[in-house]
Amino acid sequence: MTSGGDSPGMNAAIRAVVRKALFHDLDVFGVYRGYLGLMEGDIQPFHLGSVGDIIHRGGTILHSARSEEFKTSEGQKRAVKQLQDRGIDGLVVIGGDGSYRGADKLVEHGIATIGVPGTIDNDIAGTDYTIGFDTALNTIIQAIDKIRDTATSHERTFLIEVMGRHAGDLALWSSLAAGAETILIPEIPYDIDEVVKRLERGTKREKKHSIIVVAEGVGSAIEIGEELKIKTNLEPRVTVLGHLQRGGQPSGFDRVLASRLGAYAVELLLVGKKGLAVGLEYNRLVHYPIAEVLQQEHTIDESMYELSHHLSI
Ligand code: ADP
Ligand code: F6P
Repeated sequence: MTSGGDSPGMNAAIRAVVRKALFHDLDVFGVYRGYLGLMEGDIQPFHLGSVGDIIHRGGTILHSARSEEFKTSEGQKRAVKQLQDRGIDGLVVIGGDGSYRGADKLVEHGIATIGVPGTIDNDIAGTDYTIGFDTALNTIIQAIDKIRDTATSHERTFLIEVMGRHAGDLALWSSLAAGAETILIPEIPYDIDEVVKRLERGTKREKKHSIIVVAEGVGSAIEIGEELKIKTNLEPRVTVLGHLQRGGQPSGFDRVLASRLGAYAVELLLVGKKGLAVGLEYNRLVHYPIAEVLQQEHTIDESMYELSHHLSI
């Protein structure tokens, strides 16, 4: 099952789960439309061909959904019944932290569930990277590179809003990779006057353009742009990248990550494990209890944040 926001590489993870399970002679089903489809019994038997020709595709062939009803005990019982009626005794949930919360509930209801981290936000503990982060990062870098051409040509300041409801990883990594001058992320409070000072310092040394990357969790880049317009004599332009960051062909890194994590989830189910979240740390496959992963607050690497400042003086 895939759940929550789609991310590039989810299909590669689905393929790995299905193929690894079939390799071990298990019966496999695909659950469509996340917890919503699970409650409604939108579940189909899967075979080798069901996951052919998908490793390179973005999105998720299982579709995804968000469901408020599943957050209730009644909704969860409906979902459990659908699994039990089909004799399904293990479930792999590919999704973000909300999906993990749902998976944890299913564990409480006795379903052997394993979580696979699929979100572009990279905001799940117990793994260095989530599936989709690398692809989204590269999509953002391409966009910033293009905007930089215009910023340079027109000697303008640009604010670029990137995704990350609670996490600044996409903003931080893309800023470093694209050489942005200023980064605003939810993990580190910012002072608009400091941003103004940075811009003024740049102007003094005849820097004609500037790129400010804003993580959506900080607030609206449009509003921050308005504030800057009032506090400076600049005419900043704002680009909100929005949902073009979530789709697209998964990168090689995401395909490999997804293949390894999906297969590992099946291996854990085969040895009777449940309630675990898989991840990759220092290039090694790891697993932690889902409940533990959910308790850990997401943090960013502050040394990377400092580095970005040192490199964009
Ligand atoms: P993501 O997995 O990308 O973080 P969401 O936060 O939207 O996406 O979560 C996906 C779905 O997981 C929700 O629509 C809901 O059905 C389920 N979910 C989220 N939180 C809980 C919870 N506390 N209990 C049960 N299910 C939950
Ligand atoms: O969780 C992934 C994410 O892309 C967030 O960064 C973003 O805030 C959210 O999904 C957007 O969700 P929706 O597709 O519901 O607008």
